[in-house]
Amino acid sequence: MTVGFIKCDKETLPVYVVAPENLESILNQLENSSQNWAKSNKFLGNFGQALVCPDLNGKPKCALLGLGTKKSRARERFTLASAASKLPEGKYFLKNNLSLENRDYELLGWLMLGYSFDRYRKKLDAGPGLVAPDWADVAKIEAMAKAECLCCDLINTPASDMSPADLEYSANELANKFGANFSVIKGENLLKMNFPMIHSVGRAAQTMPRLIELRHGSSGPKISLIGKGVCFDTGGLNMKSGSSMGLMKKDMGGAANILALAYMIMQCDHSYQLQVLIPAVENSVSATSFRPQDVLQSRKGLTVEINNTDAEGRLVLADALTYAGEGEPDLIISMATLTGAARVAVGPDLAPFYAGSDLHAQMLMSASKTTLDPLWQMPFWDPYDALIEPPIADLDNAPNGGFAGSITAALFLRRFVPTPNRYIHFDIYGWNPKTVPGRPQGGALQGPRAIFKALEDIFL
Ligand code: BES
Ligand code: MN
Ligand code: ZN
Repeated sequence: MTVGFIKCDKETLPVYVVAPENLESILNQLENSSQNWAKSNKFLGNFGQALVCPDLNGKPKCALLGLGTKKSRARERFTLASAASKLPEGKYFLKNNLSLENRDYELLGWLMLGYSFDRYRKKLDAGPGLVAPDWADVAKIEAMAKAECLCCDLINTPASDMSPADLEYSANELANKFGANFSVIKGENLLKMNFPMIHSVGRAAQTMPRLIELRHGSSGPKISLIGKGVCFDTGGLNMKSGSSMGLMKKDMGGAANILALAYMIMQCDHSYQLQVLIPAVENSVSATSFRPQDVLQSRKGLTVEINNTDAEGRLVLADALTYAGEGEPDLIISMATLTGAARVAVGPDLAPFYAGSDLHAQMLMSASKTTLDPLWQMPFWDPYDALIEPPIADLDNAPNGGFAGSITAALFLRRFVPTPNRYIHFDIYGWNPKTVPGRPQGGALQGPRAIFKALEDIFL
């Protein structure tokens, strides 16, 4: 489903946003009955507080939302949404000024309260509606909200309805919406067109593996976005345990996040020469599965010894990275639910990323703060390059010892990029384990807002 601002009408209630330090002055603007109501209900402007004040007939007249102290705000991502999530369903507009940093993104948090994954079950409560304040960049915020809904819907859809063919369909829909070029190479054609590793990983599945490509824009910097589209990850012959497999419908979370980023860019009409690549496969088990100790040829010519068929993401990404590099882009960005090690290191809230350029890393970190899209930089640690070099092939897809699992995966990917200082890689989790205000449980957007802003800062 999708979300957005609502229109103002006469039922729309005024909302006063209150921090503890301006409680007095805001209450003084209200009628006596509302002032007394706020006092008797102990509304203090604390973090997450919400109160609807009734008129003399008991009908809602206005609402108060608490912002809390700076310290209390630091524990949650979206301040406004934290309070607004407690409002009853209805229509609201902001009556006073919102004195928060990043206030556009605070509005986004409110809009996302309205998201639910309703493909299989309709939601009853639509959440509190919000009218856009006059200072808001409505086009940008709505683009970001809709992009996030797309991302969440794609991840939340189970593999039974999100096969590589379904993912292709969704990417095609997006391309059509913006008049983008669209093409797909699938099945045996992957071998003819020299994408051997995408084929090897996906060939055991019922639905053919494929490389999905979308192109948009004819001027400006060349940007290639690559998302891991493993529609389900059983682990292959090195099969995952039941509990580890439980969430693996989300293994196309990189693809979903890349499509969300592409949506933002195309919707806001930023002039880039955009290339989106999604290697879409199911890592499945059958007589045609690739095996441990197989040595695969890659598009780049490097040979890869398979030491774990569950390290499949880096294989399909590698051929896509090589292909992207052939177009000599100004920047390549990959996003993938690549390693359990990343999850262990930073948990589900932070998106760890690797950047070949310190400047890109700085731009991302600062954009991350403004866009309320938290990132954390990880190192392309050159000395660990030795860990991905096995005795009998050029590269090892799963070095034993398990040291620095997210870093060695990133180093593996870097081998397939022609200019590492123009490369950024995200090892995301793509899933929100429990609902918090503005971030519903399930598929998660991680990074696109920060990347969108950093691209503006770097290139526009
Ligand atoms: N998709 C998984 C990584 C993953 C697991 C991400 C759990 C988020 C949560 C990936 O394909 C994988 O299985 N990676 C292995 C690599 C290992 C075999 C070198 C991992 O991380 O265990
Ligand atoms: Mn895997
Ligand atoms: Zn995987």
